Amino acid sequence: MSLYDGVDLRLNVPHSARMYDYYLGGFTNFAADREAAGQALAVLPWVRSAARANRAFMHRSTRSLAEAGLEQFLDIGTGIPTSPNLHEVAQQVNPRARVVYVDNDPIVLSHAQALLTGAREGRTAYIEADLADPVALLTAPGLRDTIDLSRPVALSLNAVLHFIPDGPDGPDALGGPEAPEGRGIPGPDRAHAIVECLKAALAPGSALVVSHLTADFAPAEVARVSGIYRAAGTPLQARSRRELARFLTGWTALDPGLVPVHRWRPADAADTAVTDTEASGYAAVAVKP
Ligand SMILES: C[S@@+](CC[C@H](N)C(=O)[O-])C[C@H]1O[C@@H](n2cnc3c(N)ncnc32)[C@H](O)[C@@H]1O
Repeated sequence: MSLYDGVDLRLNVPHSARMYDYYLGGFTNFAADREAAGQALAVLPWVRSAARANRAFMHRSTRSLAEAGLEQFLDIGTGIPTSPNLHEVAQQVNPRARVVYVDNDPIVLSHAQALLTGAREGRTAYIEADLADPVALLTAPGLRDTIDLSRPVALSLNAVLHFIPDGPDGPDALGGPEAPEGRGIPGPDRAHAIVECLKAALAPGSALVVSHLTADFAPAEVARVSGIYRAAGTPLQARSRRELARFLTGWTALDPGLVPVHRWRPADAADTAVTDTEASGYAAVAVKP
């Protein structure tokens, strides 16, 4: 009996979660993932540093918010478990922290057990849902059973919004799959509409944590990597700092604002050992007034 029995993982097609796992040095990736990841590494040899810097931002932002008193966490686009996972960081600060993980990749579901073993006083849940359909996600029983949306929630959208390209009428039509008919948010400004829908559902004092690929520092290389993902069937859209600032509209960005991921409250020398180009991503944490 294998972990993957009965799950259609489409192993012959590269998947973003498994490619990211490969960049991080994990073992939950297959030949097609490694081949596409190898193409990306040939263009952007620093992809591994970017993935590690992004993951380190998740650790620092989660710890900061838990220390600031946030007790509920909603992590959309969780990825294949890589220790420490978000609930481990949050529950190290506050063992009572409650965490809901969300991803739409069946391989992440297969490994969800590693995400569900947390502190006895706290609680973790995993739901398989699509960021493109935030209403379904927000009303999923697994979410409502675990976190109380009338109280502050830290919503993490780390390295996931760049997989929601602007729609076919948008400035950068990428030809990716649209949300299934009748579900999800359509339109050229889809990513912003999705984020606004999630923000509206959260109570004052909630936090939005975002990290996102940018082409601001290496436009030609990032454009080529986006092409590799698109050819593999995963639309990928880098966004500029100005475009990303719109996701924070109406909320108050915590210091140091929207900055390259490794510059968000670096904790040690490893955090600052990468350049802006090597990180090629921005990050921010903003609080709902
Ligand atoms: C690059 S990984 C990021 C993992 C983790 N958030 C981190 O920053 O370390 C992106 C994850 O987002 C997931 N994802 C992509 N599109 C999604 C969608 N529309 N809904 C839910 N999850 C999605 C992928 O399956 C993958 O696990």
